[in-house]
Amino acid sequence: MWSSRWMFVLAAAGSAVGLGNIWRFPYITGENGGGAFVLIYLVCIALVGIPIMMAEVMIGREGRQSPVNTMRALTQQHHRHRGWVLIGWAGLLAGFLILSFYAVIGGWAFKYILSLADGGFTGATASQATGTFEAFLASPWEMLFWHTLFMVVVVSVIGRGVVKGLETAIRWIMPLLFVLLAVLLGYGVTSGAFGQGLAFMFRFDWDALTDRALFEALGHAFFTLSIGMGAIMAYGAYVPSSVSITNTVITIAVLDTVVALVAGLAIFPIVFANGLEPGQGPGLLFVTVPLAFGQLPLGALFGAVFFILVSLAAITSAISLTEPALAYLVEEYNAKRSRVAVTLGTGCWLLGIGTVLSFNEWAEFHVVGSMTVFDFVDYVSQNLMLPLGGLFIALFAAFALPKSVLGNQLGLTGPVGRKLWLVLAGVTAPLGVLVVFLVTIIGLDNVKAWFAG
Ligand code: PFF
Repeated sequence: MWSSRWMFVLAAAGSAVGLGNIWRFPYITGENGGGAFVLIYLVCIALVGIPIMMAEVMIGREGRQSPVNTMRALTQQHHRHRGWVLIGWAGLLAGFLILSFYAVIGGWAFKYILSLADGGFTGATASQATGTFEAFLASPWEMLFWHTLFMVVVVSVIGRGVVKGLETAIRWIMPLLFVLLAVLLGYGVTSGAFGQGLAFMFRFDWDALTDRALFEALGHAFFTLSIGMGAIMAYGAYVPSSVSITNTVITIAVLDTVVALVAGLAIFPIVFANGLEPGQGPGLLFVTVPLAFGQLPLGALFGAVFFILVSLAAITSAISLTEPALAYLVEEYNAKRSRVAVTLGTGCWLLGIGTVLSFNEWAEFHVVGSMTVFDFVDYVSQNLMLPLGGLFIALFAAFALPKSVLGNQLGLTGPVGRKLWLVLAGVTAPLGVLVVFLVTIIGLDNVKAWFAG
């Protein structure tokens, strides 16, 4: 059990705030043209993400076991179809897939602690910063080394158990991370291209909205909130019954969104002030941030601290990615947590080698279309598995659980609150996912043309 409400907020925020906010959000915003993408992402967080996150915490707290066993227990207890348990299984798989590439990028953050600390970026130009990153990507052995180190750290934390391992780690990381992001934002504001960065992120250009942007915004909303795969459900299992789910979830979602927006607002001014390409892809964070700290006094020190914090944020998220599978295996086989952690970590590490090679040796190897192994694993896990998982979680919470559970868990005793919940979890959230999937299948241009008459 978490020791307090605040501890759960920190743990869930530790899961939510991670590479998704600081690394992924800025780069996919860049790739998808800014403004319109950001708006869709915000709408997805509010209308789809928050209800689904509430559903997850609620189901987790009601079942009080790992997601698979929670779904088993709830379906049996309330005589529902056993198929719902698939939500739990799909979550285990999604967590495994996501961690495989997450650990590789976490390794990049590790590597950049050293690169900044040794002053390699002091006074560097944009092309030098880009060159350093490209040279790193071109070296599979070096990437493999950092990938391995990241996985070893994660396995050693999760092996120690939830409260001991997690709480200590999280208590310090989150507040510190906010402070350093604020420093970076301060640099962004004074670097000269803040207006351009701001306009890029918030000017809504509907014509720039594409199928891909729509689809990615939805997938990213799930990824960044850690929902759709049972991670939050697993954490929900440890939430004391007195905690208000609604308030807590809103707090977490707001925190997560603020971090992403601040990261974007810090990074894009640097992009424009240095003539960099906003759509350059996964390297965006690793080029802009060293560049900015390279210009600042004591930049080597602060830059290194920044990447320490990014690494720590990545670790707290990675931990939650393993929790559904870990908790399940421990419950089911009465196995030792540490042993399960090593087995799981090794499997993810092996799969992660595919992502390492996607940036060099296998760059020309395409799984489907033009997708590398990394693109493919990323796409299947977060753009398909998380939204679909979330869709069914919402439906389960809205329609399969009896009213009494809603009353107890959400404190919804009156008909008005209950109706509102039914609308959000039973209609808005699932419909949001379905509409995005449908529009993507039909083609956004066809939909726009239809609306235009
Ligand atoms: N929310 C994390 C991030 O934004 O980096 C990633 C993540 C963690 C996704 C846990 C899913 C999850 F279950």
